[in-house]
Amino acid sequence: MKHVVSVVGARPNFMKIAPIDRALNRYSDFITHSIVHTGQHYDSAMSDAFFHDLDIRQPKWFLGVGSGSHASQTAAVMKGFESICLREQPHLVIVAGDVNSTIGAALTSVKCGIRTAHVEAGLRSFDRTMPEEINRIATDAIVDDFFVTEQSGVDNLIREGVNSSRIHYVGNTMIDSLLRVSPLADNATILKELHLEPKSYALVTLHRPSNVDDASQLSMFIELLNHVAKSLRVVFPLHPRTKASLEHEKLAPLHPSVLCLDPLGYINFVALMKHSALVITDSGGIQEETTALRIPCITARTTTERPVTVQMGTNTLVQPHLEALQAAVDSVISAPAVKGQIPHLWDGNAADRIADVIAMKIFGLPAKSNS
Ligand code: UD1
Repeated sequence: MKHVVSVVGARPNFMKIAPIDRALNRYSDFITHSIVHTGQHYDSAMSDAFFHDLDIRQPKWFLGVGSGSHASQTAAVMKGFESICLREQPHLVIVAGDVNSTIGAALTSVKCGIRTAHVEAGLRSFDRTMPEEINRIATDAIVDDFFVTEQSGVDNLIREGVNSSRIHYVGNTMIDSLLRVSPLADNATILKELHLEPKSYALVTLHRPSNVDDASQLSMFIELLNHVAKSLRVVFPLHPRTKASLEHEKLAPLHPSVLCLDPLGYINFVALMKHSALVITDSGGIQEETTALRIPCITARTTTERPVTVQMGTNTLVQPHLEALQAAVDSVISAPAVKGQIPHLWDGNAADRIADVIAMKIFGLPAKSNS
């Protein structure tokens, strides 16, 4: 029996690992799979709600790392995960994405001599001021196997000297989760509860420290949202970091058409994305989800590590300045929506491909059918 351990910690990890857990079930005669939750995100709205909506198996271990500086959070992940690695000696560790839990777990497992795979490898924004970029570069410098979501990821890894036999362009497991919950989102009652008509609102998420920890930058976003609110309702689920800044800083009031909400579960969030007129965000994953749903997305950032969403999808990168953002919003509101194309292999089956690579290429087991 081969033992695989996946590490999750923060919100975006959950949708990336959930489909892999299901796909590895096909190989349950040969492979056991367990999940470690670092506890980087710990509120029920930031964590438990996702386990429920994604129907993920409960973590076998919970490290209870919580919040803290980058160093203390990463160190706590390493310390907690090391004892699991030493005790359990898994044959493979899977880390996902670019959060502090990703690099903390990868550093630990690699140093324990355990083969380690990175899901969503190779993405690069080329902006080293982003903590996620450092996490991505550092993780890819040390892991053994690379599961990639888009061609830019393959190109970046090859340029960095990774052997192509270790790179697996499998598609996007976040889109596997999105397509799986999409029918459930169609039955969600959140639009009715919030008295929203489809296409009558903009959905907004902001959580990047550079946007929300700085009072003048957050003020700019309030002005932007108040501008959008003249044409559309604005639905604004608040990340705890954003909520804290809004409460602590003395800022202009939000227009009454801006609806601030607590963080939403995954199914409700997907329902709101599907029916929005546009999405305004600084997130990484939402650029991909809106591309898959063909919803116009304005990403308030200077760079993206997911260029395919701009080249093929519905994503537009806009400098996080008021005039540029207002102009981009006005043009989406007045012009017919760009339909975009779905990137290669964003078809809902990425996790099956990952499971096949793990079973056949990494462990040398025979293939299993999908049924
Ligand atoms: C982290 C990731 C970011 C990802 C985001 C998704 C890193 C470096 N950043 O950022 O890439 O896009 O998750 O949300 O790993 N908090 C709570 N409850 C929680 C979790 C956090 O109240 O369950 C608050 C705490 O005050 C904490 C703050 O949110 O200090 C930030 O949490 P943290 O995990 O440090 O980073 P995120 O901003 O969530």
